[in-house]
Amino acid sequence: MWRPAERIKYVAEPGRWPTREEARQSRLFQPLALGRNGQCRLNERTWVPAMVPWRATEDGIVTPDILDWYRRFAQGRPGAIVVEATSIRDIPSGPLLRIGHDRFLPGLRTLTETVQKASGGYTRLFIQIIDFLSIRRRPKRERYLKEFLKITSDHIDILNISGSIPEAEIRAVLVDMSDEELVEVLDEREWEALQYGARERVTDTELPHIRDLPEKLPDLFADAAERASEAGFDGVELHYAHAYTMASFLSSMNTRDDGYGDDLEGRVRLPIEVFEAVRRRVGDDYVVGCRMLTEDCLNGGMETDEAAFFAGRLAAQGMDFISLSRGGKFEDAKQPKVGWAAYPYTGPSGYECMPSYYSDAKGPFGRNLEPAAQVRAAIRDAGLDTPTVAVGGLHNFEQAERVLAEGEGDIVGLARQALADPDWFEKVRSGRGDQVRLCLYTNYCEALDQRHRQVTCELWDRENLDEPGVKMSRDGKRRLVAPHWRE
Ligand SMILES: Cc1cc2nc3c(=O)[nH]c(=O)nc-3n(C[C@H](O)[C@H](O)[C@H](O)COP(=O)(O)O)c2cc1C
Ligand code: SF4
Repeated sequence: MWRPAERIKYVAEPGRWPTREEARQSRLFQPLALGRNGQCRLNERTWVPAMVPWRATEDGIVTPDILDWYRRFAQGRPGAIVVEATSIRDIPSGPLLRIGHDRFLPGLRTLTETVQKASGGYTRLFIQIIDFLSIRRRPKRERYLKEFLKITSDHIDILNISGSIPEAEIRAVLVDMSDEELVEVLDEREWEALQYGARERVTDTELPHIRDLPEKLPDLFADAAERASEAGFDGVELHYAHAYTMASFLSSMNTRDDGYGDDLEGRVRLPIEVFEAVRRRVGDDYVVGCRMLTEDCLNGGMETDEAAFFAGRLAAQGMDFISLSRGGKFEDAKQPKVGWAAYPYTGPSGYECMPSYYSDAKGPFGRNLEPAAQVRAAIRDAGLDTPTVAVGGLHNFEQAERVLAEGEGDIVGLARQALADPDWFEKVRSGRGDQVRLCLYTNYCEALDQRHRQVTCELWDRENLDEPGVKMSRDGKRRLVAPHWRE
């Protein structure tokens, strides 16, 4: 993972933990009514944002390991949990959850029942629904030049050879070239496909399936939301953040000229149309929120004033909550090894999304709060009270209270801290915050995510391995869920 040059080391601080009574009276542990009619009661303003644990089957189906993962979070009884990014399409995407067909329903139903039971009905459960475009693994040089590259008249012109030369010979010439020579022959996208793996963009409108995204996505999202409702989720979170399709429509790099890009209204048009289709399908009584970015964190990317405009437009349409993340883009991702796909959390924008303990003067704790406050203020200035979720390096009670008191958010999201200690919520609520295990923010979990390995936390994954019934990761070295809390 990329790190800022300053490399200042930070340690998560416990701050002062509240007594049980102080917690009871705090802002954090007050309820919040979500939804147009306030129909969905969050018992408190704590939130576990989406985290992919790489535990579904290769067919995208809920497994016992997935149930264990969410059961363990539910045992700490946060206000809400958001289930990991779950694909709205029914196409193979490795061990990521899917909701693109009715056959996924039984597993998802078991998941909602599991969380309901483990939290005693206390925790609301949402599911993040996502669309992403195709990205290929970085190919071997020779294979790319011999098989994948489409030979065009441009190549023939640049090489200054006769068009009648057999294609195999042209490819052989390319293979023999040095990189310095080759970069002059390939165009920018071909060079990128060779160096990083081919990646589709929402601006590739010459491809029919990309051109048709505005026509196809509203129904795909609506179908997925309807299934989420049938499976018993309390609501859906539309994934409009990070490196994926909907965030790419919002991004300033969206130069589509078909009314779905270019200017602010064009960029937000599909996110609004998707929301409207979902709303029409699930009705006013179902919670529909979204996750979006406060900034792309890229040169030339979406900035906070644009995000504030979009959030205002989405809130005005009736979005029930807006969860605010930042960064996490492909454009500045590190070059992957041959055989691996680029990963959007490896560059500077990825650092902004999941900042680690080596940081710059700003530090890793609450880097997103200022822009999140700006986005929330724009929603409030528009006369709307849509709740926002603040996330990013939050781990202690004092921070959480400050976020709420200073209007940086209405709900406090703890992702890695909840993974480090799923009982954080129970401990703090009951006046036993001194027993919290604080996250180290080393991003060990994120590195596992990057390698598509089952995600665990270094604070507990080697602990009490001889406990009866402990389930181990596929590599046989790590326990898959946090041990139970013993005082
Ligand atoms: C292992 C892992 C998986 C994640 N998966 C998702 C995801 O599926 N969807 C999403 O929007 N964010 C995802 N994130 C980002 C988190 O939701 C969160 O925004 C980020 O970790 C910053 O919050 P934190 O500092 O509280 O961890 C993931 C983070 C981690 C560590
Ligand atoms: S592995 Fe655990 S301690 Fe390390 S960053 Fe992830 S959640 Fe925090």
